[in-house]
Amino acid sequence: MKPLNVGLIGLGTVGSGVFQVLTRNQAEIRRRAGRGIALAAVNRRNLEQARAIVGDQVPVVADPMAIVNDPSIDIVVELIGGTTLARELVLAAIANGKHVVTANKALLAVHGTEIFAAASAQGVMVAFEAAVAGGIPIIKTVREGLTANRIAWLAGIINGTTNFILSEMRDKGLDFATVLAEAQRLGYAEADPTFDIEGVDAAHKATILSAIAFGVPVQFDKAHVEGITQLQAADIRYAEQLGYRIKLLGISKRRDDVGGIELRVHPTLVPAKRLIANVEGAMNAVVVNGDAVGTTLYYGKGAGSEPTASAVVADLVDIVRLATADPDHRVPHLAFQPDALSDTPILPI
Ligand code: HSE
Repeated sequence: MKPLNVGLIGLGTVGSGVFQVLTRNQAEIRRRAGRGIALAAVNRRNLEQARAIVGDQVPVVADPMAIVNDPSIDIVVELIGGTTLARELVLAAIANGKHVVTANKALLAVHGTEIFAAASAQGVMVAFEAAVAGGIPIIKTVREGLTANRIAWLAGIINGTTNFILSEMRDKGLDFATVLAEAQRLGYAEADPTFDIEGVDAAHKATILSAIAFGVPVQFDKAHVEGITQLQAADIRYAEQLGYRIKLLGISKRRDDVGGIELRVHPTLVPAKRLIANVEGAMNAVVVNGDAVGTTLYYGKGAGSEPTASAVVADLVDIVRLATADPDHRVPHLAFQPDALSDTPILPI
């Protein structure tokens, strides 16, 4: 069977990781997908830099539209970030009948409803495991592994940059600005780090998780968002003395008593003995509570080249399996489980 062709838009930190993982684990991935996955083209504005990463085995193009409009490409991987060009490219890829894999949490949190509707109408899949918590397969876990459950709540450290900052401020007594600069140097932070430190990135991810867990539309505009910029070293010290750690948590909670869902991101006092209070550095962790399973915890790297690539490639394998098993079936996008709660409002906080 001929391989499915992938076009990769964006060959930065995550894109390079995708290339590395697909190349290094080619044999295993082929076996698991039941079919080859061929990297047919990659896009990066600077062609020389692109060739330095992928060599001359893979065609490189400077214009991302060349990938979206290439009839030989079956799956488009969008890794450029942002919400303007990324939205245009993703919608154009869907309109051209291509499946899409994206790591773009901002895009889905803000334009997810439009994108999923377009994908459903076209019968193509949109997969986005890498958009939340990087290498932790939390989307698949909530959507599939916990599918028997009525989810009561979830809470997570879903921004590595802020967790790194809070950990370093506590451990080393460093000030906020010094640690932020270090997080940027290490490549954890967003292009615009205000998205990290003001809680926006975590809110994008909590919005997506909330939609998966509760079957509601993505509604970033309803999220309560508070970052860590008002925190001082003294707050962290006092919390410590009282037996707590301060963590920036993304929280989504079913409130049957008032018929709604809470969706909020804010610094939270967590008792120091809880596992999640001991998640240090740029790591992520998500706690999910379901009525059947009880409380579960998922931990791992939420950012970085290969951890994020791990999720992107898993999505590629999923799409290849589903598209191969039933090529004529108009498979739904890999998004939400319909839920009786779908009309339930996000509560104002
Ligand atoms: N800036 C994000 C973080 C990157 O720090 O978690 C991964 O989404």
